[in-house]
Amino acid sequence: MSGSSTVVSRELFDYVAARTHAEDPFLKELKAAAIAAEIPAIWIAPEQGAFMEVLLRSAKPQLIVEVGTLAGYSAICMARALEDGGRLISLEVSEKHADFAREWISRSDVAGLIEVRQGRGVDLMPAIQAETVDVVFLDADKQSYALYLEEARRILRPGGLLLVDNAFAFGQLLDEACEDPSVEAIRAFNDKLAADPDFDGVIVPLGDGLWVARRLS
Ligand SMILES: C[S@@+](CC[C@H](N)C(=O)[O-])C[C@H]1O[C@@H](n2cnc3c(N)ncnc32)[C@H](O)[C@@H]1O
Repeated sequence: MSGSSTVVSRELFDYVAARTHAEDPFLKELKAAAIAAEIPAIWIAPEQGAFMEVLLRSAKPQLIVEVGTLAGYSAICMARALEDGGRLISLEVSEKHADFAREWISRSDVAGLIEVRQGRGVDLMPAIQAETVDVVFLDADKQSYALYLEEARRILRPGGLLLVDNAFAFGQLLDEACEDPSVEAIRAFNDKLAADPDFDGVIVPLGDGLWVARRLS
């Protein structure tokens, strides 16, 4: 076989999604309730949630930190991969989103494993002890990604995983005419992480592009 790649077309993407472990009824119900509560439907895609759960089960995490809880969808997917005694801390700036997520997490199969802390990620991350975290997932305000990267570098243990959503910048990454500040921030972040000697990583073309990077020792 050559080293060439197959470009993931819409059709291939749908094929992948159709063959990914199906989303369970609870997560479907959570999403419907979030939409009814006028929470924006910007959670990760089901196949991305399935991928993250499979990946994290192999990583056997004891402590996961997420920035950007929204309705709790990705937190629940990731918490299902925690080792016995493990926990997930999710940081969320919106009181409405934090309250909704807490309520739905308390009804989920991972109730008691997730703590939602309300506030800005940049204010809350410094309270987390250095080199104690197995997985960091960034999925919040894109302009803070560079700051979150520094915090992730500090709190991740060597060998820990950094996951970052929206590497494809809502599909606008390669649109040169697009100067949206969030898109610009993602372009700068992608270049920064790709060149960072403390991490080795790959952008996985699922959802809106997911960085999976390992904190080197
Ligand atoms: C894309 S959504 C997160 C989706 C969630 N990870 C999921 O897939 O289920 C982004 C969330 O980040 C929150 N957010 C925005 N700025 C933030 C900040 N500075 N600190 C913490 N959370 C923030 C938003 O309120 C929103 O709930």
